[in-house]
Amino acid sequence: MRTKTSPNTKTSPAKTSRNTKTSRNTKTSPDTAPARFNARYYSKWYGDTDDRADIAARALRFVLSYIDYMDADVDSMLDLGCGLGLWKQALKKQAKGIRYTGVEYSPYLCEKYGWEQGDAATYSPRKTFDLVVCQGVLQYLPDAACEQAIANLAKLSRRFLYLEVLTKADAREVCCPEGTDFDVHLRDAAWYAVRLKDHFVNLGGGVYAKPRMRDHYFELWCTSL
Ligand SMILES: C[S@@+](CC[C@H](N)C(=O)[O-])C[C@H]1O[C@@H](n2cnc3c(N)ncnc32)[C@H](O)[C@@H]1O
Repeated sequence: MRTKTSPNTKTSPAKTSRNTKTSRNTKTSPDTAPARFNARYYSKWYGDTDDRADIAARALRFVLSYIDYMDADVDSMLDLGCGLGLWKQALKKQAKGIRYTGVEYSPYLCEKYGWEQGDAATYSPRKTFDLVVCQGVLQYLPDAACEQAIANLAKLSRRFLYLEVLTKADAREVCCPEGTDFDVHLRDAAWYAVRLKDHFVNLGGGVYAKPRMRDHYFELWCTSL
């Protein structure tokens, strides 16, 4: 496992020091207001855009290859909490034919990049998408909103979900303090798994399928004891 440069260390931007008031040991509740995601936030955590763009490009390649191997199609993608739109940039290079929709919570980014403004818990465009991507977002939501967002991801996804969330164990064992925002809601993986399994089959590597995609994967791909 690439401990210092794993996806979560790069895509879940953070505080630089464990000694700051907002370190992973914080007792205060993380700020969930949209105003938190301002110019300062993105310049702090997305300074090295090339590195982050490379991670998004590799993630996209992996997800599309896996889906292709399953002999399934993706024509549309929703990137919920899309940030700077790194998946959009990657799509342009790898799969121009996939229709991309970027949705952001940050008024600053909506203004800057023209993203549709929305909250992961409540965004409801009255259409569904073949693939929903939600990378490094859910840890910013408190429990009730996060639960609502997971149910919403299930409504929005017609076929697949790519999900990446910083968990308690990731924060403890994997992510470096210099590159990871620990001022978030850290929960156990089981907290997510129990809620996701009501809607999705976990195919590993952050890829989830709707049960209706059963024809496309073998049972052992999603079986663990
Ligand atoms: C660590 S960044 C990840 C951005 C992008 N997904 C990436 O991987 O580069 C977290 C993003 O989540 C967004 N976010 C926070 N709360 C949200 C919410 N309730 N609904 C949608 N997005 C939210 C923030 O605006 C921020 O851009």
